Order: sequence, then C-alpha cells, then structure tokens
Amino acid sequence: MEPKLLLTPGPTPIPPEVSQAMSQGMIGHRSSDFTELMQHVQSNIGEVFGSKYPVAVLTSSGTSALETAMINLVGKDESIIIIASGAFGDRFKSIAKAHPFHVHVYEVPWGEGVDIQEFEAFLNSKSDIKAVFSQACETSTAVLHPIGKIGRIVKNYDPSTLFIVDGVSAVGGTPFNLEAQSIDCLVTGSQKALMLPPGIAFVTMNEAARVRASQNRLPRFYLDINQYFSALEKHSTPFTPAVSLMQGLDKVLSIYKEEGMDKIFARHMKMKDMIRAGLTALDLELLVEEAYASPTVTAFKGEEAELSHIKDTLQKEYGISIAGGQKQLKGKILRIGHMGYMFPKDMLTVLAALESILTRYRNKNYYGTALTAAQEAYHESI
Ligand SMILES: Cc1ncc(COP(=O)(O)O)c(C=O)c1O
Repeated sequence: MEPKLLLTPGPTPIPPEVSQAMSQGMIGHRSSDFTELMQHVQSNIGEVFGSKYPVAVLTSSGTSALETAMINLVGKDESIIIIASGAFGDRFKSIAKAHPFHVHVYEVPWGEGVDIQEFEAFLNSKSDIKAVFSQACETSTAVLHPIGKIGRIVKNYDPSTLFIVDGVSAVGGTPFNLEAQSIDCLVTGSQKALMLPPGIAFVTMNEAARVRASQNRLPRFYLDINQYFSALEKHSTPFTPAVSLMQGLDKVLSIYKEEGMDKIFARHMKMKDMIRAGLTALDLELLVEEAYASPTVTAFKGEEAELSHIKDTLQKEYGISIAGGQKQLKGKILRIGHMGYMFPKDMLTVLAALESILTRYRNKNYYGTALTAAQEAYHESI
C-alpha cells in the first residue's frame, strides 16, 4: 500500500495527469488529431530546449539521439573531440568507435568539471576539428559542465566547428539557450527531467548543423535526421511514433507552462542546495564541488559497506530508490536524483530516512541534523 519513492537519476516518477494523458486512447499517426498534437508540441517545446529551431522526436532511448547527432554531423575521416568525464562520455566514445571518424578524447577526471583553460589549450593543439561533443550533466558523476564557456571556446577555435551537447539529464532541469551557449545541436531523452517514461529521444539543431546534416554522405537510415526534420514541416514523423508518449509529452509541456520554466529551474536548484546541505550534515562527502554541482543529481562518497547498507535499507525499510555508482565509481558513490516530478519535500523524506539509517549504523545521533541543514538551505535560497 505504501507508495514508493523513486529518487534515481532516471527513470523518474511520472505525474498522474501525464499517466492519464498517455492512456487517453490511441490515435492514428497519420490522422489530423496527431497533426494537431504535433503542432501543439512543437509550439511549446522550444522554450524547454532554449531552441528556436524544430525539435525532432525519435522513438528510441537517449543513446539513439547521441548517435544521431554524431552520424549526421560528422563525415567520414573527419576529426572530432569528445569531452569524456564519466560513463556517458564513454558512451560517446563507443559510438564514435563504431564509425569512421578520427577521435580525440579530452579526458576529465570523474567528478570534476571541465577546466576551461586546459580544454582550450587541448583544442588549440589539434587541427581541423569538425565537432566537439560533451555532456551537459554527466549523470554518472553528477557534474554540470560550464557549457556556455565551452561553447565560446569552440567558436573561438573555429566558428564552423560544431558544438554538440548531450542534455539527457539536464534538459528540463536547467536552462539552455542554443545561441547564448554556442550550442549547434542539443539532444535528450524522455525519462529524466522531462517526467516521461523511457522511449523517446529529442534532437534540435541550428541552421549550421542542419546544413552539415544535409550534406553528410555517411550511410544511415533510421537515424537520418533529415527525414525527421522534413516530416516535421508537415507536423509529422517519418516512421510510426510512440503516440502515447507524445500525448504525455503534450501534457508535460502544458504543466511546464503552468509552473513556468524559471520556477521549475529554481525548484531544481533548491533541491540541489537542500540535498547537499543535508548530506554534508550527515558527514557524507560530496563527490562534486559546488561550482560544478548539477541541479538534477547529487553524488556522495563513502566506504563500500556503508553505501551498500544505505542503498539497501532505503529500499527495504522506506521504499526509496536511489542509484549506485557506475563503472569506476561502482561501490564508491551513491547518487540521488532530484529532477522532473520531484520536490523539496522528497529531499526531506530521503534525508530523514538517512538520518535514521546512519544513526543506527554508526551509533551516532544524527536525528534532526540533515533536516535542519536542508530546511535552512531551502529558506536561504528562497
Ligand atoms: C547524460 C546521459 N547521456 C546518455 C544517456 C543514455 O540514455 P539511454 O539510457 O536513454 O539510452 C544517459 C542515461 O542515463 C545519460 O544520463
């Protein structure tokens, strides 16, 4: 009977009205109803992406959008840079390996943000770089990179070098603006801050990127983005779309309109401040320094046995799910998601549970400590 609390950095909880919208009944994807739905979605989605360009929707998970960006924007034998700072930077590397590109990897220590000056020196040491790829939020480490600053460096290097950003755990939880951040292509997936189930992915491109995609001769079919943009001109999709998720998306966008994107972004920042203050009060060490802390996910370090006890007890005693570390951070960190349909009161709930778990596990009284710190952070940032 007791409702579970999903605080993982994706998939995330779905608002009941979105679930309802997704079960309103099927419509044909070549019907006027669907055309109307697509039109409505397109007129509202731009603000979330900070893009005045169309946003293509693919029926696949976030990784497909990463691959779509890469195989549409990079030609055979062209040189690219991948900024790799965690498991999803590695994902970009794996995709690139499957294609005939010259890949330079700018490695960032896991848990750290991109050092702008160092990256600039790295970029300037390479010639003829056609595109730079980076995560906005590297979900595996909970770092939010300084995307606008990286974008400026890319454009200083060569205005025609494209800057492609993976916004999978960031879009909907933190503001974007393609022009202001010098982003040419921004992609994301549905199951994170966008409050939808997994299953659709999004790609928006400015004119420079669209031209590059239309001239690229690299073989591709289902992920040929040109087909999606052409279909969008008729408010349609080239293949059968995930109709119910589109119905849900339409509802999400109307919820966003009601709450207002500024308020949504402020709520994410507030949750980040609360959870960081609360975890610190519990003598848990944060993985990421404040300057690079993501408003959508927070990671904390610890000794493996204690972390494992925390994660299991949260699940068993409280029905709260959080995530462990990935790859080299497995067993070394835990991650708490705070994006999408999550709220400051959820931060209080998980912190109260942590107080109790750690009080018993460490035999040290933490009752009230994390809640006090989190509520002070909440009120300070109002
Ligand atoms: C930053 C980032 N990029 C890419 C992905 C891959 O998305 P998917 O698992 O939907 O393919 C994820 C998934 O967690 C992610 O967090």
